Amino acid sequence: MSPTRQNIVLIGFMGSGKSSVGRLIAGRLGFQFVDTDALIVQRAGCEIADIFAREGEDRFREMETAALESLQPRERFVIATGGGVVLRERNRELLRALGFVVLITASEDVIFERVSRNAKRPLLQTANPRETVAALLAARQPAYEAAAQWTIDNSTLTHAAAAEAVIAEARRAFAWQGGA
Ligand code: S3P
Repeated sequence: MSPTRQNIVLIGFMGSGKSSVGRLIAGRLGFQFVDTDALIVQRAGCEIADIFAREGEDRFREMETAALESLQPRERFVIATGGGVVLRERNRELLRALGFVVLITASEDVIFERVSRNAKRPLLQTANPRETVAALLAARQPAYEAAAQWTIDNSTLTHAAAAEAVIAEARRAFAWQGGA
């Protein structure tokens, strides 16, 4: 069944490339780009790591749900989400209601290499981040699959190539005629 809302929603693990690919898609289609993490930071007035440290992960997940709810009236948006957004069933419903839900994946090696470039992600501040990545990936896989309408492996693609592939598939999903 085709989604009715012309938004492209990007889900996937930390480091899969949601934000980078999402910005490229938005630029190419003339859509607006929004990142739910950025929305949460803007609303909270502090970094995600601070929210986790001061208020805990559950509170952050509440804020994530609120961010998705606030986006519901939008059209012609590319929406990148945090890697854990799929964990709540309510969020999975909200994602689907928003538009075409694309899962961006990458191999564990690629993810680990990308997430190692910055230390901003609270869930990876563990004694063995490599093991944490592996465990979280395995635990979350069913939730990603349940939420996704289409999946692209971004392990070896350039972000530009991944963006083009998502656009091509979104055109089919929305049965667009015009556009880029
Ligand atoms: C999280 C991923 C992060 C951010 C928060 C929690 C997760 O977003 O929402 O640190 O649970 O996987 P990115 O996927 O954009 O890194």
